[in-house]
Amino acid sequence: MPESFGKYGPYRGNALIEEGERPISFSEQKKCAESECHEENYLTKEESKHKPVVCENCHGALAFHPGEKGEDPEKFGTKPERNLCLTCHRKEPARPADFPTILESEHYVEEEELPQCILCHDPHSPAVS
Ligand code: HEC
Ligand code: HEC
Ligand code: HEC
Repeated sequence: MPESFGKYGPYRGNALIEEGERPISFSEQKKCAESECHEENYLTKEESKHKPVVCENCHGALAFHPGEKGEDPEKFGTKPERNLCLTCHRKEPARPADFPTILESEHYVEEEELPQCILCHDPHSPAVS
């Protein structure tokens, strides 16, 4: 039996310590906003409908800035794939009725090849003017 089992009823007390020891993978948006390089990305986004979407929602977990530990920064580039956007914007019955969603098969797909969403929508300021 695990050492801490029974100390707090059936809860395994050491689980807290073990969870706390796991490496942190996410940063916080403040770090991006306050950096010299990304203040502009941040300000653009804050003025758009994407204000509630934080950088790491799209760019992935970045507790350590690309390159900080010798990783290849290229590896962290967000691929502007349709699925990135559709994860949140695909029309689904479970989504709130007033959330902007699209039907993939009907939304600007005249071309032979499915277009990237960012052809028309700036990911940091998605409204089409
Ligand atoms: C809704 C998803 C989304 C969010 C939220 C988002 N990004 Fe992006 N970002 C993208 C995509 C997609 C690209 C690639 C655009 C391209 O290839 O033209 C990109 C490109 C970039 C680039 C490189 C090109 C450029 O525009 O300068 C930087 C730097 C960047 N993002 C930083 C940020 C920062 C910092 C935040 C948070 C303040 C953020 N992004 C939030 C999706 C997002
Ligand atoms: C993590 C979820 C998430 C992702 C990923 C995401 N969005 Fe959004 N998007 C939102 C939210 C939240 C809003 C604001 C909805 C509202 O105001 O009701 C929004 C709003 C929008 C709007 C409406 C803008 C307006 O002015 O009405 C468009 C267009 C849009 N997003 C396109 C995109 C595109 C293109 C991508 C991919 C590059 C993307 N979104 C990725 C969550 C997301
Ligand atoms: C060829 C240009 C084009 C492409 C590509 C495109 N869109 Fe749009 N999108 C628009 C235009 C224009 C509007 C505003 C008018 C409308 O709703 O049709 C819009 C509106 C939207 C809205 C708001 C819908 C609403 O109810 O307010 C969302 C969300 C959206 N697009 C997401 C996406 C996503 C996700 C992709 C990629 C899978 C994408 N768009 C690809 C041009 C485009």
